[in-house]
Amino acid sequence: EVVVLAYSGGLDTSVALKWLQVERGFDVVALSVDVGQQEDLEAVRTRALATGAIAAEVVDARDAFADDYIARAIKADARYENRYPLVSSLSRPLISERLVEVARRYGASAVAHGCTGKGNDQVRFEVALAALAPDLTVLAPVRDWGMNREDTIEYGRAHGVTLTQSKENPYSIDQNLWGRAVECGEMEDPWAAPPSDVWAYTAGGLASLPDQVVIGFEQGVPVSLDGERLPLAALVDRLNRIAGSWQVGRIDMVENRRVGIKSREVYEAPAAVVLLEAHRQLEDITLEREVAHAKIELGLRWATLVYDGLWFSPLKHAIDAFIDEASKPVTGEVRVRFAPNAFWVDGRRSPSSLYDYELATYASEDRFRHGDAEGFVRIFGLGIRTWAERQGGLR
Ligand code: ARG
Ligand code: SIN
Repeated sequence: EVVVLAYSGGLDTSVALKWLQVERGFDVVALSVDVGQQEDLEAVRTRALATGAIAAEVVDARDAFADDYIARAIKADARYENRYPLVSSLSRPLISERLVEVARRYGASAVAHGCTGKGNDQVRFEVALAALAPDLTVLAPVRDWGMNREDTIEYGRAHGVTLTQSKENPYSIDQNLWGRAVECGEMEDPWAAPPSDVWAYTAGGLASLPDQVVIGFEQGVPVSLDGERLPLAALVDRLNRIAGSWQVGRIDMVENRRVGIKSREVYEAPAAVVLLEAHRQLEDITLEREVAHAKIELGLRWATLVYDGLWFSPLKHAIDAFIDEASKPVTGEVRVRFAPNAFWVDGRRSPSSLYDYELATYASEDRFRHGDAEGFVRIFGLGIRTWAERQGGLR
């Protein structure tokens, strides 16, 4: 029997590969998906084969990740609990899609992931796989075997799983084009500051790159940097390097996992925080007020759904339809400035801007009908006036 394992090349998935083979008698196909994690996936492939996989597939999904996942997250202004830009949450449904494709190709009856039983990622894989291929069995060896870290290392040693240097650090790290998540080690104490060696995407020398960038958007999706049109994956990659060099994009938070645990998470998402803010600023001038307000609520809901593993679900799909419609006028440019550990937007413009100078100005060009305001405010406040007169207000 064949099982396709989502394989990162780290300790857990390497031991999982061996365990599925030795303890469960599977032929294991290892699948490594390139979602922009900037790792040598050829070396990962070699490691999979050396660990006993009957085949090892590497799939380049960077453009699909950018165009089908990151673009949607930007249009949704997606930040879980108003902060976390869904880095890992976004890659899981894409990896699930590829797992199903490879499983079909090899006639596999099962797929497997290396998540623990305490996290969100198991939920995301298994719910996505249930939506895409309810006939496939999903195995979670790391959750099942009940080994702690020491046991895992020992099992690996006993079965000839070679431990690589960089992978076996004290942190649990997941990274892709949209950012990097680091947990465990000293950071399990929420009062402890993150050790300086946790940073990678934002470790660059300060101020080595431009201190200003103009981002162009079409219908809510970033399409250019300083006037140069770029595929979204390349645009995000370049902006990660620019914003990362200013140490922009660090997020340190305690978040509510789907499984009921509060966990301390440190993120680096330089391009994500900049693009999300720039996009919001462009919406400020292009969305009509009621649409803008509805979009804030639905965007938060969208982020929660995706965080919870409901990428492939009817509600998330329906909200996408709203977001696509609402994003039609979100075309234009936003200027972002950088300083050490900081960025801000200081300009925005759009051919579909709703900003009306003659309505907004206090100068002589003003054509707002001041006289209309008096009656409007009187009627708007009428209920409050009646309540205060009859019941004495909040006394
Ligand atoms: N807490 C984040 C999330 O739930 C990050 C998870 C990172 N995964 C990992 N294997 N370190 O999306
Ligand atoms: C894991 O438990 O496998 C990683 C953390 C998470 O999924 O939230």
